[in-house]
Amino acid sequence: MRTTVGIIGAGPAGLFLSHLLHQHGVESVVLERRDRAYCERRQRAGVVEHGVAEALRESGLGERMEREGFRHDGIELRFDGRGHRIDFPELTGRHVMIWAQTEIVKDLIARRVADGGRIFFEAEATAIEDIETERPRVRFTTAEGVDEVLECDYVVACDGFHGIGRTSLPEEVVRTYDKTYPFGWLGILADVPPSCDELIYARHERGFALHSMRSESVSRLYLQVPADTDPADWSDDRIWSELATRFELREGGWKLETGPITDKSLTPMRSFVAEPMRHGRLFLAGDAAHIVPPTGAKGLNLAMRDVMLLAEGLRAWQESGATAALDTYSDTALRRVWRAEHFSYWMTSLLHIDPDGTPFDRRLQLSYLDHIAACRPAAAQLAENYTGLPEV
Ligand code: FAD
Ligand code: DHB
Repeated sequence: MRTTVGIIGAGPAGLFLSHLLHQHGVESVVLERRDRAYCERRQRAGVVEHGVAEALRESGLGERMEREGFRHDGIELRFDGRGHRIDFPELTGRHVMIWAQTEIVKDLIARRVADGGRIFFEAEATAIEDIETERPRVRFTTAEGVDEVLECDYVVACDGFHGIGRTSLPEEVVRTYDKTYPFGWLGILADVPPSCDELIYARHERGFALHSMRSESVSRLYLQVPADTDPADWSDDRIWSELATRFELREGGWKLETGPITDKSLTPMRSFVAEPMRHGRLFLAGDAAHIVPPTGAKGLNLAMRDVMLLAEGLRAWQESGATAALDTYSDTALRRVWRAEHFSYWMTSLLHIDPDGTPFDRRLQLSYLDHIAACRPAAAQLAENYTGLPEV
């Protein structure tokens, strides 16, 4: 089989890249090891940055997001039994969209299929070869168990943290940086209307909690738990009771509504970057190259930004043979990646209770949260990063 751009992975990065390339007249093939239903069901991120939402609209994928998603103009920071709102438009002129990754993936798959795009589900890439030549190849096994080869001009590995893309770069050219955290997030999906209009990021002495949402009738909530937690140890009652405690306001007047829990899972927390994001004719995009802890809601957004850059570079190359944008891809993407790494690490450190932390550390967190509540530039810095830095 032959194509121009071989894409490994049908997560948001691989699918959006394939869609953008189609709009630019560049042919691609997507190989995905899971089946379509699995890709469409996987519960993950929920916040789309201002600029990424705009890119979705511009590429014709905004219709359902506008109709069914929510535009959010702020978040609440809850700490010490008090709430403080961060007003995005006032501080930055921007907003975010609450629009789940599952819905973005559903729309992208439907659109690629309608446009005649070639996505092979249950097709596992097993090797990437000849990346230092002009004819790189991807070996893969089809759903029927047949071994095939995809010949391309370029390969883009959008195959997530556990894919084969990153490990196909020669060991001597890659440098990795990482940090693991001693806690994770226990995430639930519940059939209950959200108890708030905007997301609540709560710092409590017992740990972090986040109230998010998926629709008028479905809530998404997270609890900081030890990294080795087994979700089965958390009964529904225990989860709701712990959430209610961590969101409690000193003055009262707010109540967490509860309902049936339909999904329960543990998300580990890690920061990770691999540099460079390109070698020869193999590019890395999204989680294949970098991971952030979810606190800043940046993972999905970074993945989308990477492929927006790549799509432009590949368009220029096909139109005129120019490789300048492809040559600078890694450096350009990494500038944004490191900003998001810092923001995600900072938000995580500000809001989570470190089991090895001291009373001094915990007092510093409260002092900085007070500073954000009192000082406009401090709040603006948070808002700039959360809604997405346009200039990086
Ligand atoms: P992925 O979505 O991981 O897609 C990679 C795809 O490649 C997968 O479909 C995989 O099956 C496929 N693949 C892998 N290897 C192969 C192979 N050899 N051959 C073929 N296909 C292959 N971010 C947030 O901002 N907020 C959150 O709450 C949040 N929660 C998360 C929870 C979990 C459990 C995880 C893992 C991530 C979460 N993230 C969250 C991060 C966010 O979802 C990711 O940053 C985003 O999915 C990255 O998209 P991607 O396309 O790069 O990778
Ligand atoms: C969601 C996830 C996040 O990591 C975040 O910071 C905000 C919202 C969500 O799943 O809705």
